[in-house]
Amino acid sequence: MVRPLVVRHTAGSYAVIIRSGSRADLAALLNERHPGTRAAVIADSNVAAALGSPLPAAPLFTFPAGEAHKSRATWADLTDRLLAERFDRQTVIVAFGGGVTTDLAGFVAATFLRGVPWIAVPTTTLAMLDAAVGGKTGVDTGAGKNLVGAFHWPSAVICDPAALSTLPERSYREGLAEAVKHAATLDDRYGEWISRNTVAIAGRDGAVLESLIRRSVELKADVVAEDERESGRRAVLNAGHTVAHALERATDYAMPHGEAVAIGLVLETRVAERMGVARAGTANQVAALLTALRLPIEPPSLDHERVMNAMVADKKNRGGVVHAALIASFGTMARDGDAWTHALDLRVLAEIL
Ligand SMILES: NC(=O)c1ccc[n+]([C@@H]2O[C@H](COP(=O)([O-])OP(=O)(O)OC[C@H]3O[C@@H](n4cnc5c(N)ncnc54)[C@H](O)[C@@H]3O)[C@@H](O)[C@H]2O)c1
Ligand SMILES: [Zn+2]
Repeated sequence: MVRPLVVRHTAGSYAVIIRSGSRADLAALLNERHPGTRAAVIADSNVAAALGSPLPAAPLFTFPAGEAHKSRATWADLTDRLLAERFDRQTVIVAFGGGVTTDLAGFVAATFLRGVPWIAVPTTTLAMLDAAVGGKTGVDTGAGKNLVGAFHWPSAVICDPAALSTLPERSYREGLAEAVKHAATLDDRYGEWISRNTVAIAGRDGAVLESLIRRSVELKADVVAEDERESGRRAVLNAGHTVAHALERATDYAMPHGEAVAIGLVLETRVAERMGVARAGTANQVAALLTALRLPIEPPSLDHERVMNAMVADKKNRGGVVHAALIASFGTMARDGDAWTHALDLRVLAEIL
């Protein structure tokens, strides 16, 4: 059996199991890790329809699929239903779905009766590579994404690449942008490995997906272990995301997150080159890898002013200056003295847009 990956954090550690078919081991894992508890599975409507429940013996709580339902209203509905079903402190939540579900169900677990344990069973590329690891949970509000939430680490994460078989092609592909982000910011050899394996990745080959998920989770977990609450180095995980969040807002979230990240990585790196922060040619290297994975690298025609306004309105921006984590060369982040972010040259960005 493949050795599970162990992610350490201030309050302990958890295993990330990455293996085709591994969601069948959920019941055994629950018995071992949480004896004497009652499990409640939370899944969205699409995932429940496509994959059923990974724990047929436990009650399944569904909510309507989509980012619009990662909300306080859904959180209230789910916690009310758990209370109505008399779930008590001896509860363990199983989050079965994409990043919307792991964020939302993780937040339910963080808050239900002041916090119960949870296990993440991600079912999208994006959630396996990124969202399910790191302990960030939460919901969106009218003012923006992820504005209400908590740090609450899962007690285990089960990544079963076989669960990706029902994922629509566009969703499958967009999540790969986060793997490119991990490679471009932290590991050029991982980037080379991805570019040698694009055909197998596109074909959802189980063994290649296991390696891909494993390397991304390792890279993310290392960064998170060093900087859990995002004061310093964790900012590297936001590479591409300053522009990505602005693109998402400017399109009223019609643009999928991963596609926005792909475009954001390229645009931010082009700006970094013009600022003299990134080595010339780095943006093209990032773009080539994204293109090989059939991800977009150019923004669609949109209202550029809306994008620029959305950028300045982002919660992460301090005092009107937009900061971004920039790549220095493929696989290496740029530093600005002690800081892991730079003030982004908005004039240059506006020109590039
Ligand atoms: N907590 C974090 O660190 C973190 C990191 C990155 C992203 N996120 C969050 O993740 C969310 C995006 O996640 P996502 O892209 O996985 O979106 P998602 O959860 O909405 O899933 C995308 C779509 O695919 C469907 N789906 C999921 N798995 C399926 C399967 N196996 N078969 C068929 N359909 C399936 C879903 O119902 C949904 O319609 C955003 O809310 C983002 O903020 C969180
Ligand atoms: Zn992201």
